[in-house]
Amino acid sequence: MQLFPAMTGTAALSLLVLLFFSSCASTDAHNITKILAKYPEFSTFNHYLSLTHLAADINSRETITVCAVDNAAMSDLLSKHLSIFSIKNVLSLHVLLDYFGTKKLHQITNGTALSATMYQATGSAPGSSGFVNITDLKGGKVGFAPEQNDGKLNAYFVKSVDEIPYNISVIQISSILPSAQAEAPTPGPAQLNLTALMSKQGCKMFADLLTSSGTINTYEDTVDGGLTAFCPTDGVLKPFMPKYKNLTAEGQASLLLYHGVPIYQSIAMLKSNNGVMNTLATDGAKKYDFDVQNDGEVITLKTKIVTAKITGTILDEQPVAIYSIDKVLMPKELFKASLSPTPAPAPAPVADAKSPKASKAHHVYASPPQPDSPDEQPAADQTADSSGSVRFDGGRLIAVFLSVWLGAMLLVV
Ligand SMILES: *[C@@H]1O[C@H](CO)[C@@H](O)[C@H](O)[C@H]1NC(C)=O
Ligand SMILES: *[C@@H]1O[C@H](CO)[C@@H](O)[C@H](O)[C@H]1NC(C)=O
Ligand SMILES: *[C@@H]1O[C@H](CO)[C@@H](O)[C@H](O)[C@H]1NC(C)=O
Ligand SMILES: *[C@@H]1O[C@H](CO)[C@@H](O)[C@H](O)[C@H]1NC(C)=O
Ligand SMILES: *[C@@H]1O[C@H](CO)[C@@H](O)[C@H](O)[C@H]1NC(C)=O
Ligand SMILES: *[C@@H]1O[C@H](CO)[C@@H](O)[C@H](O)[C@H]1NC(C)=O
Repeated sequence: MQLFPAMTGTAALSLLVLLFFSSCASTDAHNITKILAKYPEFSTFNHYLSLTHLAADINSRETITVCAVDNAAMSDLLSKHLSIFSIKNVLSLHVLLDYFGTKKLHQITNGTALSATMYQATGSAPGSSGFVNITDLKGGKVGFAPEQNDGKLNAYFVKSVDEIPYNISVIQISSILPSAQAEAPTPGPAQLNLTALMSKQGCKMFADLLTSSGTINTYEDTVDGGLTAFCPTDGVLKPFMPKYKNLTAEGQASLLLYHGVPIYQSIAMLKSNNGVMNTLATDGAKKYDFDVQNDGEVITLKTKIVTAKITGTILDEQPVAIYSIDKVLMPKELFKASLSPTPAPAPAPVADAKSPKASKAHHVYASPPQPDSPDEQPAADQTADSSGSVRFDGGRLIAVFLSVWLGAMLLVV
């Protein structure tokens, strides 16, 4: 009988621990639409996040701050009659790629900081126009402005709306951040110069091959109906050139077309649509397809011969997305003969050196203006995964273990 209260005490404690772990294991990624749906004053902002597909991109990211504005501020923006593409740019400037909870906002080192935004990540923000300046002001105020705003801070922190520590902070600011660059008419997709965009962001060799082979025409013809292109960076393509030159002209064209997909796929869509993907080289019996898989935060493209990773976004403006990749995609249709006898190493769930902290450092808010710079690692280790999934499974394992133990305890009691 003496044992009884002690037992229940332990059981209660273990129940708490169990609840803690199961809540860790079952918490899905945040859903901005759902978070904002609780607040009617943000209904217009919320509606446009969905309409522009920004909501899905927000949900797919971690360590992020959404600066929401109320319906009155949204109607100021809408009265400008911008195209939906420009509205998307303006709203993406309101999504900071770092976590700013109320506490951090009021305790910024040196009282001022620059944060990269999702507008910067689209690749279409000229200069440093995709950065937002956050400055602590007198009387506990916090001012916000696009970096290039002549020293004026015209939007202010109003209140915290919701905070999921280190994942997503939703705050209200007083007005839309003014940005002539974001509001500028964005070129319709048909006017986009695909090769110029690729060349500017580390994929000049690939762009030049598209032009010299004429396959760029196929890419351009696809744009209106949706296009996603995966570009090997110069550092990756250069050592591959002997293999490329070895192909027939037809083979070369097929290889280049193999790097395009005739539908628009944002990062969020790629993450949620794992599976086989047809390419511009696909032609009836000649399959020329590859598999898309995501492993935590990393999206991989698997052919029978190589596994490439997406390393950066060159452009993401519906209906066109262009990403940089760390390997040339080699279709089995062209490289079957060179299938090496040594099998590729099986992807082991190795927790690599890339700690969660290291991956968060990617979003450092005071970093200088720069696009998502692809790490050029032609010989990247194919087994290196993000450690996220490992931690996740660990939590689950402990939860299972504890529930078994708890069950046993209750039986004893
Ligand atoms: C933060 O996001 C990650 C990945 O989406 C998720 O696994 C984790 O549970 C989230 N944390 C909280 C506190 O919601
Ligand atoms: C997010 O929440 C909204 C509203 O509750 C829901 O319609 C939508 O399906 C959710 N999205 C995801 C990805 O769960
Ligand atoms: C704060 O200011 C000092 C002195 O100007 C500078 O050396 C330091 O890098 C600044 N810190 C940040 C985080 O900007
Ligand atoms: C932010 O803007 C204020 C006002 O123009 C300026 O004093 C400050 O230096 C800016 N901060 C950064 C990090 O550029
Ligand atoms: C695209 O840009 C390149 C320079 O990067 C230029 O040579 C080419 O003519 C442009 N194409 C079109 C269709 O404007
Ligand atoms: C070029 O093709 C020939 C014949 O298929 C092959 O033996 C050779 O290894 C290839 N060279 C390269 C660099 O792939």
